[in-house]
Amino acid sequence: MSKPHIPLDQIRAQVTECRRCPLADGRTQTVFGVGNPSARVLIVGEAPGKNEDLQGEPFVGAAGKYLNELLAIAGLRREDVFIANVLKCRPPGNRDPRPEEIELCAPYLREQTRTIDPEFIVTLGNFSTKFILKTEVGITRLHGTMQRAGKFKVFPIFHPAAALYDGSKREALENDFATLGELLRESDAASGAAPAAGASGNAASAPGAAASAAGAPGAASAPSATASAAGAPSAAPAGGAAASGEPSQPDSAPHIEQPHLL
Ligand code: URA
Repeated sequence: MSKPHIPLDQIRAQVTECRRCPLADGRTQTVFGVGNPSARVLIVGEAPGKNEDLQGEPFVGAAGKYLNELLAIAGLRREDVFIANVLKCRPPGNRDPRPEEIELCAPYLREQTRTIDPEFIVTLGNFSTKFILKTEVGITRLHGTMQRAGKFKVFPIFHPAAALYDGSKREALENDFATLGELLRESDAASGAAPAAGASGNAASAPGAAASAAGAPGAASAPSATASAAGAPSAAPAGGAAASGEPSQPDSAPHIEQPHLL
């Protein structure tokens, strides 16, 4: 029998009290996550930064403002999704998370995910992507390709902060969020469901939405958006995929099937 889900408030209370690692000593407060408790899309970032540590909410700085714009491209509002991080406390000076910190913090993200039970997990950047997919393949290769962790569809995308430092990543980010919107609508259509709130087909779609779903990072345009958007996690060989209705990922796009979440 499967384990019962822990209510989010109980997980939050545990996070608030957490002293499992030394990051607890340097934090102003923990950053549990925010959003719709039964969201269809769980967004997973890396760790709180300075603003997040002060305000107790993920993605509230410049990267957060940009994330809100990117969500709109997918037809999502911030309140439609749930936003969390791999780490719940700010690493000093915004340094990279350490493996032992990730390991100690992981149970919280695992329980959040089990309770929220999203259809899609969008991993932002290298840390959350490598952690959730248990892979060493980097975000440059994986962004915009559909993967799977346990029962969850995983869609890696560059971290919004990366585009703030390196403007050349903006196009790929925006294409990938447009593709996410396509994937949500395709999934609605496949299940015969009315479009869910926040994925209602009114997304401001970026040109070439599916280019990155097709595993062509940063590709500017592709004529057929939906044919190559990977609506299901299994990689089909490039080529006849569109005709067969199967999602396509080119041969060069790695396909990761991580059997267990986290
Ligand atoms: N970057 C992250 O990964 N998470 C945040 O909450 C803020 C910035």
